Amino acid sequence: MSADLEWTEGGPRSLRYGDIYFSRSDGLAESRAVFLEGCGLPHGWSGRARFTVAELGFGTGLNIAALLELWRRTREPGAHLSIFSVEAHPLSRDQAARALGAWRGVLGDAVDALLTLWPEVRTGFQRLDLLAHAATLDVYIGDVGEALARWGGPADAWFLDGFSPALNPQMWTGEVLAAVGRLSTPGARLATFTVAGPVRRGLVAAGFEVEKRPGFGAKRERLEGRLVAQARSPSSSRRTAVGSVAIVGGGIAAAALVRAFSRQGVACTLIEAEAPGAGASGNPSALVTPRLDAGFGPAADLHAQAFAFAVGLYRRDAPQAIIAEGVLQLGVAARDEARFAKLAAWTGFAEGRLNPMGPADLADWLAEDDTGDNRPALWIADALVVEPALVLRAWLASADHVTGTVVEVEPQGERWACRGRRSLPRGRLRRLRPSARCRPASDPWPGGVHPGAGLRGEGCGLGRLRHPDPGRRRAVRGEPRARRLGP
Ligand SMILES: Cc1cc2nc3c(=O)[nH]c(=O)nc-3n(C[C@H](O)[C@H](O)[C@H](O)COP(=O)(O)OP(=O)(O)OC[C@H]3O[C@@H](n4cnc5c(N)ncnc54)[C@H](O)[C@@H]3O)c2cc1C
Ligand SMILES: C[S@@+](CC[C@H](N)C(=O)[O-])C[C@H]1O[C@@H](n2cnc3c(N)ncnc32)[C@H](O)[C@@H]1O
Repeated sequence: MSADLEWTEGGPRSLRYGDIYFSRSDGLAESRAVFLEGCGLPHGWSGRARFTVAELGFGTGLNIAALLELWRRTREPGAHLSIFSVEAHPLSRDQAARALGAWRGVLGDAVDALLTLWPEVRTGFQRLDLLAHAATLDVYIGDVGEALARWGGPADAWFLDGFSPALNPQMWTGEVLAAVGRLSTPGARLATFTVAGPVRRGLVAAGFEVEKRPGFGAKRERLEGRLVAQARSPSSSRRTAVGSVAIVGGGIAAAALVRAFSRQGVACTLIEAEAPGAGASGNPSALVTPRLDAGFGPAADLHAQAFAFAVGLYRRDAPQAIIAEGVLQLGVAARDEARFAKLAAWTGFAEGRLNPMGPADLADWLAEDDTGDNRPALWIADALVVEPALVLRAWLASADHVTGTVVEVEPQGERWACRGRRSLPRGRLRRLRPSARCRPASDPWPGGVHPGAGLRGEGCGLGRLRHPDPGRRRAVRGEPRARRLGP
């Protein structure tokens, strides 16, 4: 799946496709001339609160870094950029850093922001939260046809950058170009470096009007296009930006919302009946583990992607809340051994991060003579144990806090009014229905057995967290055990 590169003086070249990633003379100038200007940017997003750019061929990320830099300089205040890109053969972070090295300072911190969040080698969607750039990037790792079938669109602008059609026809088939048309807003723009006949004809069939323009560097011509056929219903991209929100309930869900809204410059008022963490999020510790789904359908993708996103978020934005890293998932029956092996081989999780263990390995790992049963286990290396109180403290800090119980929320013109047991402020949006009230355990969990023993899959058996050696502070998740797991 990974990119297979050779390095030339002008940058990387793909050995798999026999083509270069960007112009040898000046990749950034090419990106700007062919893709940004080719799509009429930044003029295209003037007056827009939301704008969506889609790209076929993420490669080194150079086009996207150039896009982010332009967006940061020229966007409307409060506007947000959504980016979608697809890549079948991802470069590693080190390869990308080498390819983009020349533009690190030139593009502000766009290159560093991309490299920090660089996609992992695992299939499916990966969201890169570029909130400092008022942007989110969804990269689909996998084949272009699959990606376009799964992405919802619509795009306001397209960068078609999938190597030369002669060397890589799969990136330019009629089906791919028809999907580009289907996933576009009316009037959407597109740009590409190629003027190959089949590409032009495919784009016209997909509803685009295309025009040849003078090419960059040694290339004589390039192509610009505009969707003339009515594809999708007009997007909601012209709606006005939200200025403030009221969020009801001060648990982990609210904290995540406050974090995301605040990064986008939206003021938050938090209305909490008691105190942050009064509900289920008041547990002294919580596991961040994936839901394991060996069906490998869309639901499995979603859980794997949400897990990776959550882990990245806690590591970057609340590292102080991480109590331990790595969780051992115990199986419930011997047949779980085959299931765990299947999950470990699946490309939806980052390679080598799930390690199955048979019963003997498990006993060895736990440094016990006998585990007392015949269960396999799965070591989830990226899983975390976090202290929710520290996450709440960090992420809720930017909100205005109001203590009160909301009893009713009703629309008032363009805004919403919250009614409660005391006078509460008004906001434009609200989050209702916090989860059913749950009291936290009154005392920290004793080593080995969690008081909520009936809740299989919740944070049970955290005895190893007390181990004096930090390297062995690990959590064990599964059916509660009748004895202590830790020393
Ligand atoms: C014993 C136990 C162990 C768990 N272990 C794990 C685990 O290891 N990993 C994991 O991921 N999940 C775990 N969970 C689940 C997890 O804790 C919850 O899914 C999560 O905390 C829910 O967060 P929330 O923000 O939606 O709700 P809550 O944290 O419950 O927050 C809701 C908030 O809303 C407030 N509120 C309610 N009604 C009103 C109102 N009308 N007006 C104003 N405020 C109001 C409440 O006071 C509360 O503070 C566990 C749950 C339990 C009970
Ligand atoms: C010219 S490069 C992209 C350059 C990139 N836009 C940049 O800024 O560096 C083309 C990319 O398309 C990817 N690609 C080729 N065929 C693909 C396919 N069928 N599905 C998805 N990606 C593909 C390649 O792996 C390569 O990274």
